[in-house]
Amino acid sequence: MTSLILGSAFISRLCSALSSRSAPLLPARAVVADGATVGGLCLERVTVLRGQRQVLTDVSMPILEGGVTAIVGPSGAGKTTLLGVLNGLIRPAAGQLTLNGMGCLSSPETLQIHRRRTATVFQEHALIDRLSALNNVLLGLADRRHPLSPLPWPAELQEQAAAALREVGLLRHAHARVANLSGGERQRIGIARAMVRQPRLLLGDEPFSALDSGLAASLGNLLKGYAQASGVTVVLVLHQLDMARRLADRIVGLRDGRICFDGPATDFDLAVQQQLFTSTPSLSGEPK
Ligand SMILES: Nc1ncnc2c1ncn2[C@@H]1O[C@H](COP(=O)(O)OP(=O)(O)O)[C@@H](O)[C@H]1O
Ligand SMILES: [Mg+2]
Repeated sequence: MTSLILGSAFISRLCSALSSRSAPLLPARAVVADGATVGGLCLERVTVLRGQRQVLTDVSMPILEGGVTAIVGPSGAGKTTLLGVLNGLIRPAAGQLTLNGMGCLSSPETLQIHRRRTATVFQEHALIDRLSALNNVLLGLADRRHPLSPLPWPAELQEQAAAALREVGLLRHAHARVANLSGGERQRIGIARAMVRQPRLLLGDEPFSALDSGLAASLGNLLKGYAQASGVTVVLVLHQLDMARRLADRIVGLRDGRICFDGPATDFDLAVQQQLFTSTPSLSGEPK
């Protein structure tokens, strides 16, 4: 499936072509192939059980098209679970995920359409160590060709993957095995693999956590610019609160599986922050 073997001559040609490109890698705005827009995604009274535990409780949250939403909260609050519901990988025990024009995303067909328009940067990167950086980014496009195809990746997709690597400043490592790259570089490959999908909805689970503050800020700006220029909806779980305030239009504060704050980033002040992070935590391991 990942049988791409690229010659270094091809990569050099690609590098010089891409270094002369000034336009960033951006998807076409608004209407996608099947005629509906991705605006109007909404969680309606969602409850999620993991094992015997209720880890999200009655969460309602419209996701407006475009812009950046940050999800913040203490460890264990349910932030990763919330992203899992948004990308359709975690099914709620009660409540639903709906999309304007498509209704409830519960059938395999509607979920597949939703997932094709969605990309996720996972907390643990989810990269394949033995593959090159470029091949890992190409995996972001795995649903764009037959899973058993023995053919090399089409040149057009290879160019898109190389352009995504360039966006995150790693084109020079296109051929490097990701096992040999640093934590920060691996995280940037995870971001490139999401961007190459040209999604309508981009979800990130602490996508800057392995980066130094300068690089985190510049990749944050990249994603914010991406959202602004293309209308892509970006939802990021962030533990850096200053970054959440700076990048996000809206902040959602989650605690013990419930939304405690949902408002403009400018309203997320110190008092809200203290309430979210310092009130008495529930005992870990206790059923809620
Ligand atoms: N696969 C799982 N099985 C059982 N419980 C889980 C599982 N994944 C997460 N949890 C529990 O769900 C709660 C929320 O987890 P998570 O969404 O990862 O929180 P956060 O991302 O805010 O740290 C935590 O208490 C965690 O222990
Ligand atoms: Mg998490």
